[in-house]
Amino acid sequence: MDTARNRGLAVLTNVFLHLHPVKVRKSGIRLRFTWCMGGITFFLFLVEVATGLLLMFYYHPTVEYAYVDIIDLREQVPLGVMRELHRWGAHAMVITVWLHMLRVFMTGSYKPPREFNWNVGVILLVLTLLLSFTGYLLPWDQLAMWAVTVGSNMAGFPPVFGDQVTFVLLGGIRVTADTLLRWYVLHVLFLPFVIVVFMAVHFWRVRKDGGISGPL
Ligand code: HEM
Repeated sequence: MDTARNRGLAVLTNVFLHLHPVKVRKSGIRLRFTWCMGGITFFLFLVEVATGLLLMFYYHPTVEYAYVDIIDLREQVPLGVMRELHRWGAHAMVITVWLHMLRVFMTGSYKPPREFNWNVGVILLVLTLLLSFTGYLLPWDQLAMWAVTVGSNMAGFPPVFGDQVTFVLLGGIRVTADTLLRWYVLHVLFLPFVIVVFMAVHFWRVRKDGGISGPL
């Protein structure tokens, strides 16, 4: 650990540490510059994964049980902690991902060579919103039913194939048990998998573009 070379090697040859850059510019990781918003968004995603996995032990994605399961999770669990953490975490993640985008925009960090990563970011933003929206239906209450009815109808407005989009989203022509199952699979399996892949590309690209841009 005595020389810079040895310290570098210690990071590079360790399976966990090698994910981090060997060197970072101090100015680039200043809280004043990044607001740590990307990091906080990622942390909130991990909270969502952990609490979501716990919720999966209790929640049944069926018309018979979905609503009462959520009521039970709220009333029987002390302070409804798992569900509330998952719900508030999701709201917070939507806010922080926008703030992260705002920070990147305000600091001009989308400029070359980072324009590719900006585009990956836009995909991450859409995936975050989709995760949030698919989770909305799962409590199977009136709010969920009508919000999803409105959202899916809006998605049906594009010309030519609009009706097909609504049909695919709902698994039919209105919100039914098929929609619940479809959105559950999207919410707990498909979208988390896709967002993890894009996050990996996003983080790798931050490194490839020379680390966080930093004030010059
Ligand atoms: C799930 C969503 C996202 C996560 C977890 C995430 C995470 C991160 C992290 C940890 C960084 C390192 C610097 C920092 O913390 O500010 C970063 C950088 C960056 N992000 Fe994101 N991000 C997300 C969404 C977005 C979005 C929506 C955009 C823009 C449309 C974006 C564009 C960028 C760019 C261009 C950089 C490089 C910035 C620089 O070098 O200063 N990201 N992201």
